[in-house]
Amino acid sequence: MSILVTGAAGFIGSNFVLDWIGAGLEDVVSLDKLTYAGNRENLASLDGCAQHRFVLGAIEDEALVSDLLASENVTAVVNFAAESHVDRSIVGPGAFIDTNVVGTFKLLDAVRRYWSGLSADRQDSFRFLHVSTDEVYGSLGPDELPFSENNPYRPNSPYAASKAASDHLVRSYGETYGLPVLITNCSNNYGPYHFPEKLIPLVIHNALRGKPLPLYGDGRQVRDWLYVKDHCGALRAVLKGGRPGQTYNVGGESERANIDVVKSVCDILDRLRPLGHNRTYADQITFVKDRPGHDRRYAIDARKLKSELGWRPLESFESGLEKTIRWNLDNSGWVERVTSGAYRDWVARHYA
Ligand code: NAD
Ligand code: TYD
Repeated sequence: MSILVTGAAGFIGSNFVLDWIGAGLEDVVSLDKLTYAGNRENLASLDGCAQHRFVLGAIEDEALVSDLLASENVTAVVNFAAESHVDRSIVGPGAFIDTNVVGTFKLLDAVRRYWSGLSADRQDSFRFLHVSTDEVYGSLGPDELPFSENNPYRPNSPYAASKAASDHLVRSYGETYGLPVLITNCSNNYGPYHFPEKLIPLVIHNALRGKPLPLYGDGRQVRDWLYVKDHCGALRAVLKGGRPGQTYNVGGESERANIDVVKSVCDILDRLRPLGHNRTYADQITFVKDRPGHDRRYAIDARKLKSELGWRPLESFESGLEKTIRWNLDNSGWVERVTSGAYRDWVARHYA
């Protein structure tokens, strides 16, 4: 008996698999296409571990997925596989439709066929957990209530629209075929193994190399930050106790404006890696052209997850951020290896 984790070599997927195996739960089959965002090295500490198997492949490869489901006696699928960077979705939305929409559909269909052949008991206990984002709900005004599970979907970027489409497909497979699906919509994560194209790891990376810390527009956009290990804890809770067919919002009650996030990173680096001569990393902050369609504010109401499943985040934004920065300082080799030529080309074009 195993669980199948897709997108397992990415940021959240790798944290999830490492924590899951560390907790001694079911065996894991990790499936990942290893796009620019996927890194086999994230799971290298599990090489030789009998409870883990890595398979290079895509969620849209129905034959491969069907074979894995049957041969590994899969009891649950956790779907992290996605194109996940909003800025890249603005430049090239096609890959987001291919993986997030068509890929999720093909994965779902392979899972449905496998699931329909299981015994009634195994059908009941089977779960398909789709890991999604708060960005499907659109943007909040400063005084609006945080997103609850009942908010309408109003995606504003191609990324958010592709995730919204995938959520709808997952929901429809629950309603139409009875597949025991679960959807989680989580706020912005940060932590170890975060690819340095997203705000927090990019700022840590650039600060340490004396480069500009780019803030889009006025830098006052608000995100609700959650330490990645707390997201993984929420996913384990939803898999174990979530009601099939339900959506659970996941968030850290840590709303911060981007400018404050960047200043917090600078403050911690000033303490851990002082520049000397009364200089501060905050001097590197630079305001750049805003992102088109930039959502102003996200905030999550996670009361359903807390009251039904007893989940609580263990880290505050401050404690999680310090852990993240220390991880980056201790793993500079990882950062160097993931910032390959292709990544440097993207940065050169995007921030030109
Ligand atoms: P990521 O970009 O770091 O990782 C995505 C992984 O999916 C990579 O390893 C990549 O190689 C793999 N992948 C891409 N296309 C694939 C395909 N067709 N088949 C198999 N594997 C494929 O993303 P992440 O930040 O770890 O996000 C994981 C999931 O969580 C995504 O679905 C994302 O929408 C969602 N999410 C992310 C955040 C966040 O703050 N990062 C917040 C909420 C939800
Ligand atoms: P990001 O990490 O890309 O996540 P998302 O767009 O999914 O929320 O961006 C977080 C916030 O930081 C978002 O408001 C955009 C902003 N941002 C910058 O100001 N500068 C940057 O260089 C990046 C990558 C993001």
